[in-house]
Amino acid sequence: MSNPSELELSRRGVLTVGAVTAIGVSAPVLAASENATTGASTPTIPVSFEVNGKAEHLSLDPRTTLLDALREHLHLTGTKKGCDHGQCGACTVLVGGVRINSCLTLAAMHEGDTITTIEGLGSPEKLHPMQAAFVKHDGYQCGYCTPGQICSAVAVLDEIKRGVPSHVSANLTDRPRATGAEMRERMSGNICRCGAYSNIAEAMAEVAGARA
Ligand code: FES
Ligand code: FES
Repeated sequence: MSNPSELELSRRGVLTVGAVTAIGVSAPVLAASENATTGASTPTIPVSFEVNGKAEHLSLDPRTTLLDALREHLHLTGTKKGCDHGQCGACTVLVGGVRINSCLTLAAMHEGDTITTIEGLGSPEKLHPMQAAFVKHDGYQCGYCTPGQICSAVAVLDEIKRGVPSHVSANLTDRPRATGAEMRERMSGNICRCGAYSNIAEAMAEVAGARA
């Protein structure tokens, strides 16, 4: 009968193969790196993408989420980890201009992608118009959800501009418009435990040139 450590090793092996298969990475690109705490060898894969205009080349455990790659490997801690389960929106970033929950996607799935985080939207000296509007309208209290809210808000206005339908506008014959209801519906995946929703809506309305 196998001893427990052998069982553990084989279970890990199965999990690793499963993770690698799930992201479509072939075995030859795997490399081994030493786990600092256990001394065990952890397979890694090369991942390259552009973040905030800068080319990044990482060697990652295939199971690394995009959120952890940004925060733990690139030290871009503006993007926040709230639930880590796709339920709060704190981890929202833009990939090719489209918003995603970075906790729900593996970094390895973004090979060659162009990623923008809150750090890349603007700078303290030159805020993005949405960042400036959040400041002007007090669109935050503790600020934890704010990077995700702002990234989402930028993408929402772009979605409306491109005519991407939402639940509110799905049955309309017209293109969606930046009404208060439309923007609130599209922002419903971004939770704010401080309840700054009205101020966020006002900030978005100002940037959209509409009423909240
Ligand atoms: S941390 Fe990603 S949705 Fe909550
Ligand atoms: S400002 Fe505190 S969670 Fe939104």
